[in-house]
Amino acid sequence: MGVKLGILGLGTVGTGTVQLLQDTVGRHPLLQEIEIYRVGVRSLSKPRTVELPEGVITTDLEAIVNDPAVDIVVEVMGGLEPARSLILKALSNGKHVVTANKAAIARFGAEIFTAANQAGVYVMLEAAVGGGIPVIQPLKQSLSVNQINAVTGIVNGTTNYILTRMQTEGSNFDDVLADAQRLGYAEADPTADVDGLDAADKIAILASLGFGGRIHLEDVYCEGIRQVSKTDIAYAEKLGFVIKLLAIAKRMTPSSPLSIRVHPTLVPKAHPLASINGVYNAILVEGEPIGQVMFFGPGAGAGATASAVSADILNLVATLKTSTANPNPLLACRHQDYCEIAP
Ligand code: NAP
Ligand code: HSE
Repeated sequence: MGVKLGILGLGTVGTGTVQLLQDTVGRHPLLQEIEIYRVGVRSLSKPRTVELPEGVITTDLEAIVNDPAVDIVVEVMGGLEPARSLILKALSNGKHVVTANKAAIARFGAEIFTAANQAGVYVMLEAAVGGGIPVIQPLKQSLSVNQINAVTGIVNGTTNYILTRMQTEGSNFDDVLADAQRLGYAEADPTADVDGLDAADKIAILASLGFGGRIHLEDVYCEGIRQVSKTDIAYAEKLGFVIKLLAIAKRMTPSSPLSIRVHPTLVPKAHPLASINGVYNAILVEGEPIGQVMFFGPGAGAGATASAVSADILNLVATLKTSTANPNPLLACRHQDYCEIAP
């Protein structure tokens, strides 16, 4: 029996995900188990760049999350409502949810995870922070015994792309923003990128995972890159710095309060974050006893984000298809010989 996906959204990320799932069927045995069963959109008349069987695309997103045949809901529509309500409805209907929606998770994460726990289903959000970079799972699992002292990141691809091109080519802010929109990096409303709000959502999620507890967005200081001029960038360069939009969550001592902030920062050229350019993101985690770990990769765009969304889907499919006693079903099932030794 196949695993049926109900995908909400067929924009940059939705299209990238459908494309990736369709193009890579032979790459992993579990990909053959996936059926793209329904895809919800706003407009049926919009031209699409992926081919789907007649009847798969619908404007009735409620019907998707209420359809008993749907196993996993993939929320890649963005925005707060109706995304929040649709996620909650999917969870209460017993469906696992994959989402790339950091805005919804940063605001309604507590409500969403409570609903998931009550229903006994999973919410996966690897694509919500850092685009294609695997950072959520490592922070949640691989680093879980560490005491995290700081998470410092370039977590918005659009603004890093803009700052990089202003620095290296002397380009104009508005021209580069238009390019970032064309390339599918920017949010539907790019204000969220430019004013640091998207980075604030992401650092709130990372801080919540790294430091534990609920982060309220009103406690995150937030300043974007609108005021950064080419002159600022040129002066910084002369002084041996680059300007980066950093998102920082930091505790000076284990008992001191957590400070969370997003703002343009003078980063010394020798610092590991100074050389992260273009749409690339990086997240530097400092903890005890691990020391420093840096996650680096493409932070936005169709392919990179589809990679993270698809990995979450595949992990859920693996969980649905294999023994729950197996602590790492995806790894165990990637190769036949691993499957044979799996419990
Ligand atoms: P997008 O290109 O604007 O696509 C949004 C899709 O959702 C469109 O297909 C749209 O339908 C559909 N949609 C939106 N509101 C709807 C509604 N009320 N009813 C029905 N359909 C609706 O957005 P995106 O860039 O793919 O981003 C999607 C999500 O992924 C967001 O949460 C974003 O923050 C997150 N994300 C994006 C990136 C990236 O690089 N773009 C990376 C990581 C995470 P139509 O096609 O008919 O308009
Ligand atoms: N607009 C976001 C960015 C998409 O530029 O980083 C990835 O979350």
